[in-house]
Amino acid sequence: MANKNIRSLSYRKELDDNLFENVAELAKNPASQEEFHELAERFMIDDSVVLGTASFYDFLKPENQHKTIHICNGTACMVAKTQERLVENLKTFVEADKIGHAPCLGHCHHSHAFMYDDKTYSASTKDELEKILSPSSVFPKGRNLYNVDCNTTPILTSGIGNISNFYALADKFKDKPKEVIDELKISNLRGRGGAGFPFYFKLEAVIKESFDKASLERSRKTQDDNQKYIVCNADEGDPGAYSDMYLMEHQPHKVLFGILMTGLTVGADTGVLYIRGEYPDSIRKVNAAIEELKELNLLNGFRFKIIRGQGSYVCGEETALLNSIEGLRPEVRVRPPYPAQYGLYGKPTVLSNVETFANVHWILENGGAAYANLGNGKSTGTKLVSLDSFFNQPGMYEIEMGTPLKTVFDKYGKGFKSSVKAVQIGGPLGGIVPIHKIDDLTLDFESLNEHGFLLGHASVVSIPSDFPMIQFLEHLLEFTADESCGKCYPCRIGSHRGYEMLKKAQNESYKIDRQLFDDLIETLEIGSLCALGGGIPLPIKNALKYFDDELKEYFT
Ligand SMILES: Cc1cc2nc3c(=O)[nH]c(=O)nc-3n(C[C@H](O)[C@H](O)[C@H](O)COP(=O)(O)O)c2cc1C
Ligand code: SF4
Repeated sequence: MANKNIRSLSYRKELDDNLFENVAELAKNPASQEEFHELAERFMIDDSVVLGTASFYDFLKPENQHKTIHICNGTACMVAKTQERLVENLKTFVEADKIGHAPCLGHCHHSHAFMYDDKTYSASTKDELEKILSPSSVFPKGRNLYNVDCNTTPILTSGIGNISNFYALADKFKDKPKEVIDELKISNLRGRGGAGFPFYFKLEAVIKESFDKASLERSRKTQDDNQKYIVCNADEGDPGAYSDMYLMEHQPHKVLFGILMTGLTVGADTGVLYIRGEYPDSIRKVNAAIEELKELNLLNGFRFKIIRGQGSYVCGEETALLNSIEGLRPEVRVRPPYPAQYGLYGKPTVLSNVETFANVHWILENGGAAYANLGNGKSTGTKLVSLDSFFNQPGMYEIEMGTPLKTVFDKYGKGFKSSVKAVQIGGPLGGIVPIHKIDDLTLDFESLNEHGFLLGHASVVSIPSDFPMIQFLEHLLEFTADESCGKCYPCRIGSHRGYEMLKKAQNESYKIDRQLFDDLIETLEIGSLCALGGGIPLPIKNALKYFDDELKEYFT
């Protein structure tokens, strides 16, 4: 109830005078207690609400305010072992205490990644660093180059041609919600953010919800009875993934069209893109694309709003993300109700991933059946796959669902540069696939599930043969402990305990009680409220199964 009240108060100023943006602004300029108090008073909320929000995010923490450079401590850079040297090289140019951390900057194809002056870079030598950091630098700012290719009909990686012609499809379909939903249903487009939920279903649910609400509340009509939102989840927090970054930076109109068309279909006039702060170039590119639409008069009264994330993995979880936009502390909400019923500011909301939205134009232009013809029937269309720096040809590959994984690795990645024993597919909550299993897998939801892994967002992080698996698991549990929203205790406490055990086993004469560890993993799996605590057991169980020889010395 308390949250509902705060949500309503935050809604009074909604997106134009957004509470979260106000808090972020204050926290970044060494704010006095008094300024937070004034903000809280203006929103008629308690000081504890704004302070609770400000203290949650990495980029807003007081200890990070004086950092001028953030080096990537994501999984791909960690296994590539590039960051220690990067820090040493950086120390030639900046004081050590000016260097902070950020978990994954989307440079997994190159590693050596860092963020400086609101741009992201990779630099493996002092010379490269000098070019970037020197005030008179002519280095192309924010350079982020990687290979892009496709093994089938390109849906996400093709050009869009003339922008006005591209958006003309919105005029064709804007008064035909049933046709749009039918095509989406036939296409069997499933969410690309990880869970694979049918996209059309969310649109239908929002339409149904607003219809039910309207009839229930007809007697006490208020101005906002009909308010609905489209929210694009562009928080791409999975270390190793940079496909949403690719789409925002190279295909922003595919993403914006999908959001706009979804709005026109369900009767929502506002689309919010929640873009992570670690992708400053994506924010600029999407913003420029929105300005382009305004200039060309292609918005038809639709309003786009970008919200910049402030450094938190759990904000990618859909309900934490909604709370974050509202300026509440981003703890995961209990479901039901789902966002389609009770979403942003408690209004019916279609919330989906960047890549999901980016498919909509192609489906409407070519028909749902043409889309469903690609893939294996259950997993349709294509999926972007991000390959890390261990591949001879790292990059962004648009792959038809159902393609053998070996083809992706050999034909597109061109094999590994050095010996790799496993890959983690689908981010920190995705499975650890031993290299010998690659031949058995195809790139789709079903194949990976059936073999005990996960498609997730289809990022691939390589685990080199000489990288200790115990250290990899320690990294995963440390990440979970850092990023836990703290709402439920299996995750809040369990992730810390697991991390401590794995660390201690490597550094002290201590062996982990296997029964205790298995119990802990089971508690996380079945007792957690969301897929952060609930999902982390999957890669751990994979490692215990396939790398027992290597891990058993740490257990009793
Ligand atoms: C801890 C956690 C982090 C998540 N991070 C993301 C993310 O960065 N991007 C994303 O689209 N979905 C993320 N998800 C999944 C979302 O909760 C949600 O399922 C998704 O945005 C729905 O969009 P889709 O149906 O298009 O996949 C995350 C889930 C969890 C539990
Ligand atoms: S599992 Fe972790 S992140 Fe998810 S609700 Fe519980 S404490 Fe929060």
